[in-house]
Amino acid sequence: MASEQDVRARLQRAGQEHLLRFWAELAPEPRAALLEELALLEPEALREHCRRAAEACARPHGPPPDLAVRLRPLPPQRVGRASRSDPETRRRWEEEGFRQISLNKVAVLLLAGGQGTRLGVTYPKGMYRVGLPSRKTLYQLQAERIRRVEQLASERHGTRCTVPWYVMTSEFTLGPTAEFFREHNFFHLDPANVVMFEQRLLPAVTFDGKVILERKDKVAMAPDGNGGLYCALEDHKILEDMERRGVEFVHVYCVDNILVRLADPVFIGFCVLQGADCGAKVVEKAYPEEPVGVVCQVDGVPQVVEYSEISPETAQLRASDGSLLYNAGNICNHFFTRGFLKAVTREFEPLLKPHVAVKKVPYVDEEGNLVKPLKPNGIKMEKFVFDVFRFANLPPNGDPPAICEISPLVSYSGEGLEVYLQGREFQSPLILDEDQARELQPQES
Ligand code: UD1
Repeated sequence: MASEQDVRARLQRAGQEHLLRFWAELAPEPRAALLEELALLEPEALREHCRRAAEACARPHGPPPDLAVRLRPLPPQRVGRASRSDPETRRRWEEEGFRQISLNKVAVLLLAGGQGTRLGVTYPKGMYRVGLPSRKTLYQLQAERIRRVEQLASERHGTRCTVPWYVMTSEFTLGPTAEFFREHNFFHLDPANVVMFEQRLLPAVTFDGKVILERKDKVAMAPDGNGGLYCALEDHKILEDMERRGVEFVHVYCVDNILVRLADPVFIGFCVLQGADCGAKVVEKAYPEEPVGVVCQVDGVPQVVEYSEISPETAQLRASDGSLLYNAGNICNHFFTRGFLKAVTREFEPLLKPHVAVKKVPYVDEEGNLVKPLKPNGIKMEKFVFDVFRFANLPPNGDPPAICEISPLVSYSGEGLEVYLQGREFQSPLILDEDQARELQPQES
């Protein structure tokens, strides 16, 4: 274990020696716990974290002034509308989704590392009973939907299949979540197919860049945002686990959605058929101030602009048909290919910019009294799960590649096709065989 001198020297390098302010008063056990916690903070990274937090906090808050002019709605060809598309298209997406599930290529990944402070419960949100007569919790509803979608895919394709469930937790949620799953016998899922892993924590910092002590012997730590997913995938070798199981597509979702369709075949099928690296399932925004992020383009690149980062004027803008211009409400349901997640963990994660959340963080004051602040006093730095969208490869036009098969009986090596094709539009797939060619042949007058 690191010695007090070592830790003190490291903290000095980071400009954070105040964290040992109460050292002299601590009993051996709290001393050991504090040293263990502090030894994990790498001095250069800590210095940089505190500097960035203070700097970000000093910048003016609110949306960047030029955001409104850089924003555009998504191009229509990148959007699939489950509720408004014709039944045949929808069926095609669903069929593809079920096919991938039946091939064991689809996993679900729950983001459950948040502290859930807004819900006001002391336990992980997934353990919340949502008020159903059955008293089922969010975790139980999710587990049951996994079992059911496995059954449906198996029935359709006559195979037995598994949708593995990855659960990202944090120091705050791992213990109780794991215990809850055990107590409930994993809701009749095979425990081998439920993989829990922990995201990292970061220290909360004052406006002038000092790490906050929440007790004399404990630093105020907070999860690093749901974009902490990417470091956590790497830390716990989760993508390797997916690869071993043959998983290619991952449905990532947030914990507090009672209606969430895990591994939603329509959504998965749509994304797979688009050839997309990633996707976001959205719900039309109900009203301009609704606190949901919007999926849109910034400088021509698809992104989510968070509700805290869009100005009220922009949120109010309307399209010519009267609907909200930015109406693609993010519900934190995302699709990723494993290949894309791998590229993110290897290459893009360090490029993700943390967002600043200014919060009320309980702390001990100079005299050692515990203070519950009435006003925000601390900064938490969080990465967002959807900030990787901008690294995705976009399929051309957002459409699957057009398919055209030309029979050698119609054209030996491309000759004579203008007679049939010139000036005409076709639906993909086009099969130009002798019959079709006869129909397309200009009539002799
Ligand atoms: C999120 C979306 C927002 C969307 C809204 C509606 C993000 C950053 N924002 O906002 O665009 O409109 O849902 O559904 O995704 N979590 C972690 N670790 C963390 C922090 C959060 O796993 O460090 C998890 C939470 O447990 C939760 C999910 O991420 O399952 C969403 O996080 P939360 O902070 O609740 O985001 P919202 O403000 O609801």
